[in-house]
Amino acid sequence: MKAVRHLTILGSTGTIGVNTLDVVARHPDRFHVVALTANNNAKKILEQCRRFQPRYAVMLDAAGAEWLQAEIRTAGLATEVLSGIESLEKVASLPEVDTVMAAIVGAAGIRPTFAAAGAGKRVLLANKETMVMAGRIFMDVVKHNRSTLLPIDSEHNAIFQSLPQNFSGDLGAVGVRRILLTASGGPFRQLSLSSLGEVTPGQACAHPNWVMGRKISVDSATMMNKGLEVIEAHWLFDAAPDQIQVIIHPQSIIHSMVEYVDGSVLAQLGNPDMRTPIAHALGFPERIETGVASLDMFKVARLDFEAPDFKRFPCLRLAYQALAAGGSAPAILNAANEVAVESFLKCRMPFTAIPAMIEEVMRTVFRKEIATLNDVLTADSEAREAAHEWLACLV
Ligand SMILES: NC(=O)c1ccc[n+]([C@@H]2O[C@H](COP(=O)([O-])OP(=O)(O)OC[C@H]3O[C@@H](n4cnc5c(N)ncnc54)[C@H](OP(=O)(O)O)[C@@H]3O)[C@@H](O)[C@H]2O)c1
Repeated sequence: MKAVRHLTILGSTGTIGVNTLDVVARHPDRFHVVALTANNNAKKILEQCRRFQPRYAVMLDAAGAEWLQAEIRTAGLATEVLSGIESLEKVASLPEVDTVMAAIVGAAGIRPTFAAAGAGKRVLLANKETMVMAGRIFMDVVKHNRSTLLPIDSEHNAIFQSLPQNFSGDLGAVGVRRILLTASGGPFRQLSLSSLGEVTPGQACAHPNWVMGRKISVDSATMMNKGLEVIEAHWLFDAAPDQIQVIIHPQSIIHSMVEYVDGSVLAQLGNPDMRTPIAHALGFPERIETGVASLDMFKVARLDFEAPDFKRFPCLRLAYQALAAGGSAPAILNAANEVAVESFLKCRMPFTAIPAMIEEVMRTVFRKEIATLNDVLTADSEAREAAHEWLACLV
């Protein structure tokens, strides 16, 4: 008999949340959903409550929660509806929950993700922004509370799978020389530089290989996503920045690689489908079925690799700069990026203004040392304020 895992899925209505529930539904004997959460998509979470009958459903939005509670009552379900950030923290740290999928997008995910790690849960980390903003203190909370951290980002999950099982945070001790972090290059890898200023949100969100939420899709188009992942890899695997090599691999078949001192390079391959890393982390250390199609190597036929072009992708350079600067710099980078992406998605500024805004915010907001989560949140709000001021001057 398999032990049943009791889950909270933070951000259950998003792309990662929906894929997680898809895997969970294939294994009703292994997983029990205790709590689901959303921001304001009440209709989708209602549908999920009907299907998975969780003990709790949390919406950040109070009006949405009120509507949901009424619908839940009418449907005769026993789900308790809660709202607000404290409720997100509560369901991330419930005693009856052992595993938390952290899949809220952006800085909004940081407090519940910290709550899960602080309560010693097995944390399945999709919310890379937590690691970017607060890597050092988050890793301390994980260690101190004996939380288990399993990466969901396909690249970090691939690295995790390519490391030996006895890896305990020291790459040198297991003979690793470098991490090779792959990137598709996004939808604008070959577009002429002069056309980048005219691209629309729709074009930026049309990723060639992956189906993802809008924020991460724009991050992939600017390659800020890869920059955030470099910072995430630095903290997750204790890798020095020069041990992390970004490689453009347009087919997204190799999800990342680990190079050892003897010259061996281990890679994890598969179709670009997030259910693979999600299932790997849900079932770990066992392998479970996902419904992902077999990789057809004859159809793939070729695998290409290119060096990233920092002129085309200045956001990648800015992320390396923030990592080198340390302290609050990555939190400032992340906050400026979130404001920039949102402004671009709302057609308030062009695509090419994204790196310009981030660079200016990084230049003007004073970098500080980080000792607590509060320090991180302060840096986040200072950077957002500076970004909005910059935007006000632009429009
Ligand atoms: N999608 C991928 O393939 C992928 C791959 C690797 C890593 N990730 C990471 O996984 C995370 C989620 O990405 P995604 O693509 O699934 O995003 P998404 O589709 O936009 O979904 C985001 C989820 O977070 C919720 N949410 C948004 N703002 C919130 C707030 N202020 N407070 C509470 N909940 C909020 C949304 O609720 P509503 O639906 O109500 O808005 C939704 O459930 C991101 O950090 C991303 O970088 C994603």
